[in-house]
Amino acid sequence: MATSSSRSCLQYLLHLAQDNLDFRLPEIKALLALRGKPFHPSGNFQEKSPFWCLDGLSEENVRGVMARSVCAKSAFELWGHGHTHSELRTSLLNYPSENMSPFMHKDSTYRINVYTFNKTLEFVDRIKRIDALEYLSFEGAVSLKSPQHIFCLLEDYGTDPNDIPEHPNYIYFGRWIADGQRELIRSHSVKNRHFIGNTSMDAGLSFIMANHAKVNENDVVFDPFVGTGSLLVACSHFRAYVCGTDIDYNTIHGRGRSSRTNQKWRGPDENIRANLRQYGTEEMYLDVMVSDASKPVWREAALFDAIITDPPYGIRESTRRTGSHKDVTRPPDESHVPVSQAYHLSDIFTDLLNFSAHHLVMGGRLVYWLPVYRPEYREETVPLHPCLRLVSNCEQTLSSHTSRRLITMEKIKKPEEIDSLAPLADPRFSPYQGHNAFREKYFSGLNKRCREGGQQTEEEEVTVG
Ligand SMILES: C[S@@+](CC[C@H](N)C(=O)[O-])C[C@H]1O[C@@H](n2cnc3c(N)ncnc32)[C@H](O)[C@@H]1O
Repeated sequence: MATSSSRSCLQYLLHLAQDNLDFRLPEIKALLALRGKPFHPSGNFQEKSPFWCLDGLSEENVRGVMARSVCAKSAFELWGHGHTHSELRTSLLNYPSENMSPFMHKDSTYRINVYTFNKTLEFVDRIKRIDALEYLSFEGAVSLKSPQHIFCLLEDYGTDPNDIPEHPNYIYFGRWIADGQRELIRSHSVKNRHFIGNTSMDAGLSFIMANHAKVNENDVVFDPFVGTGSLLVACSHFRAYVCGTDIDYNTIHGRGRSSRTNQKWRGPDENIRANLRQYGTEEMYLDVMVSDASKPVWREAALFDAIITDPPYGIRESTRRTGSHKDVTRPPDESHVPVSQAYHLSDIFTDLLNFSAHHLVMGGRLVYWLPVYRPEYREETVPLHPCLRLVSNCEQTLSSHTSRRLITMEKIKKPEEIDSLAPLADPRFSPYQGHNAFREKYFSGLNKRCREGGQQTEEEEVTVG
């Protein structure tokens, strides 16, 4: 008898959550790539649909993807599909019986679920749908509580809640394989997290970032703007070793004012390490330290498998770096206590890309958020680097005129290979200077324009310190 894990060349149906639509394809592609598998959609693939059919995978591949995905809700081995129940019947009757029989024999127990997207069915109609499947030769016993096998009839009524058709646009029937990791969004919610700040990253997005970065077991992941460590929490859940830096002493040491409404000061042990302890991943914690991301403090080597970060945009927190703005060229001496000066957005991204080019391993990924003023955004706005390939660029809309884009890049060249052609300091390779005056202008004062709700201004970023 065929075992479920040895069967391959089947079609699998993914049921995806209908939020963060832009983030789903790069997530599933990255999770497949982690297993050395390409993304092969079958049939009429529509990216915005809640249902995707995939070819060329084994059940083991699908289970691996579902063990990581926060965008996918469930996965099924697809047994049949069609525009109508009659087409579904024909398709199911044509499905090889040797693929079905291991799950339908008389010693097995099973249950059939009915799921409808964009329509609610009465209980009696659900029962009618199940009864109509009597042409399938289930020989086992029904067990509603603990069946060995779960089957699902899924009806798709389109994505427009104001135009719900009487009959489904498409129908699927399959054997349930696994659920995705949507539960992580609740279990890791920042609402119940030990240590939080004003800009702690949402749990769901943190896990999506870790997936876009292809974070793998035993990887070393770095966040140069670590804040309260939300991204480290997500990466450590996937068993990566994590570390980070932040310019803010209080954040790194878990001191200062609390971000909770009912608490004035941070309590003892409110820090990133305690956050990892809360989720049972403290052994993945390397360390965090106070450091300015604009200053090179690392030895020249490819140290990190992934760099995942949420840089300061100056919208909810200020952008700053160490050094006096009265004399920016003066080298800091030992006794000099640094004050901060403006850290312009364009410089933040230039530094981040250059840093990643030097300190990522080959094939390692950089995942970060880019702030966007929508009326002015163009694809050319996205910073480039000769050592990094742009993998994906997904928008999360924040308001009518602002959004942020999750940018994923992969290291494809060593800086030395570029250096032999032209040094990185050459303005032609700087993402913001020389050849791309447009980008320089775009980032200049962007955070102020976003803050002010769309009123264009010529002013630069706010200087603090
Ligand atoms: C958007 S927050 C990051 C939030 C973080 N992802 C979290 O979940 O808490 C940006 C962080 O960058 C830090 N930062 C600002 N300028 C910096 C610099 N020059 N070097 C390092 N960190 C800096 C800020 O202190 C802030 O904690």
